[in-house]
Amino acid sequence: MKLKLQINQVIKDAFIKANIEHKPMSVCESTKPEFGDYQFNGAMALSKKLGKKPREIATKIIENLNLSGVLIKAEIAGPGFINLWLNPLWIAIQCHNALSDDRLSVEVRKTPIKVVVDYSGPNMAKQMHVGHLRSTIIGDTLVNLFTFLGDEAIRQNHIGDWGTQFGMLIAYLEEIGEDGSVSLNDLEQFYKDAKGRFDADADFANRAREYVVKIQSGDAHCLQLWQKFIDISLGHCEEVYNKLDVKLTREDVKAESFYNDDLPNVVEKLQSKEMLQQSDGAQCVFLEGDEVPVIVQKSDGGYLYATTDLAALWYRANIVGAKRISYVVDARQSGHFKQIFRVAKEAGFVADDVMLEHIAFGTMMNKGGKPFKTRDGGTVKLIDLLDEAVIKAKETINDKESYSKEELEALAKVIGIGAVKYADLSINRESNYVFNWDKMLSFEGNTSLYMQYAYARIQSIFRRFDGEIKSDIIIGDRLEHRLSVMLLRFEDMLIRTALDAAPNQITTYLYDLVTLFMRFYEQNPILKDGVDEQTKMSRLALADLTAKTIKQGLDILGIQVVNKL
Ligand code: ARG
Repeated sequence: MKLKLQINQVIKDAFIKANIEHKPMSVCESTKPEFGDYQFNGAMALSKKLGKKPREIATKIIENLNLSGVLIKAEIAGPGFINLWLNPLWIAIQCHNALSDDRLSVEVRKTPIKVVVDYSGPNMAKQMHVGHLRSTIIGDTLVNLFTFLGDEAIRQNHIGDWGTQFGMLIAYLEEIGEDGSVSLNDLEQFYKDAKGRFDADADFANRAREYVVKIQSGDAHCLQLWQKFIDISLGHCEEVYNKLDVKLTREDVKAESFYNDDLPNVVEKLQSKEMLQQSDGAQCVFLEGDEVPVIVQKSDGGYLYATTDLAALWYRANIVGAKRISYVVDARQSGHFKQIFRVAKEAGFVADDVMLEHIAFGTMMNKGGKPFKTRDGGTVKLIDLLDEAVIKAKETINDKESYSKEELEALAKVIGIGAVKYADLSINRESNYVFNWDKMLSFEGNTSLYMQYAYARIQSIFRRFDGEIKSDIIIGDRLEHRLSVMLLRFEDMLIRTALDAAPNQITTYLYDLVTLFMRFYEQNPILKDGVDEQTKMSRLALADLTAKTIKQGLDILGIQVVNKL
């Protein structure tokens, strides 16, 4: 449920009753429990407009405030803040309703939009690296979130499958004469070997150059080799996607090569808008205030990364019909995206009402604060990293004997992969982030294990309870009050997260929720002797709603829960 909207409505009604002819600003969550659940700070802003003291205005609002429905108490604080307390009876009904709804009372958007999320985007000539890991995790979460809120989110995997290096790579693939699956297991090594041949043998180098031209002109034999190379490379990425439990499939691949035929049109369209200038034989767009131009065609006729991205923007806005286009790409490409967004808007490739955003993220660092690399300075193979996560996760599991081998494997996967994902998603995405196994696999703190543990703990309460659960809730004390209000904030938080494309708002929420639940559970026993039936039922219902909210939140993050831990 949209909690803030409900409270804002009560304030709006008070404005009307008090004959204040201004639109009230929105309430905000209180920073401390003693300041109530929400605060209204609009009296100060109105003071000038109305020519009255803020406290006077606040008093008038309070006098006209309905304190028998959503709210129960309002108090003036400081210079004219209004602290607001939600009505426990109303909260209890809302929690009850959320519990009986599969979507936990989160509405499906009435006016959904089409969103394209461009994420993962590995390069076929190279091993997937940690930057692609971050993009994959964040992008997948955003698609889950948009979809859950009712938008039509479309995944697009803009893989790098085109460029001169492919001439060399397929020439080498042909030369070694096997089907490639073995040699291509280590793309990094394959690239090195091909480069070695290219540098050492002039005949090979010539052939490689010929192959570039041949692929580009559609030569069947070369295209077939190229296709094979891409298939195998993409297969490696899919192994990573599988392990990561992300939902990218081949259908979501809209590779760079997909836009090949459109590239001359991009240049032509820019030309017709008189946006192009020649510089050293290259076709460039000079943007006001930018020192470096956007080059769209080189002097030899070749096209560039930016040209392809402009074609992709055109396609997404005009063919797909997206109203929001989100690029989950390393922060180091922010200059590139700023420029192509500007060019696309100025050239009219994308209508003004289409939102273009670069969802930038920082670099993954090792414990020493250096970019994440293998000991010899190479790129870390993602697949190895994920396998290591599962091995380390296994070590954290107690009572290993109580699981079968398969169960243990499955559990370790849920914990290990969950930890890698959660650690990534829980930091402000624009910061660089330090990869730390111990921290991410801890039962304490803002980690996936802490959430999974809380969930399992609640399930164990339900295993011990045998009876029929009635979801009638009575808010007994401050902790129960705060826990219920937190539960009701779920939708507001999701909407904000989607707006800001900031998954760490979900993890922060889950952390606050679970911390509150743990305190509640410590102080308010559920199944202990002496707890009366009504209280027991009410607390069970709160625990149930907490568990369902954790599960739903983690599900959006692409992380699973387990019933026993
Ligand atoms: N392949 C690119 C890289 O590895 C990422 C692609 C991002 N998407 C885009 N439309 N440019 O840097």
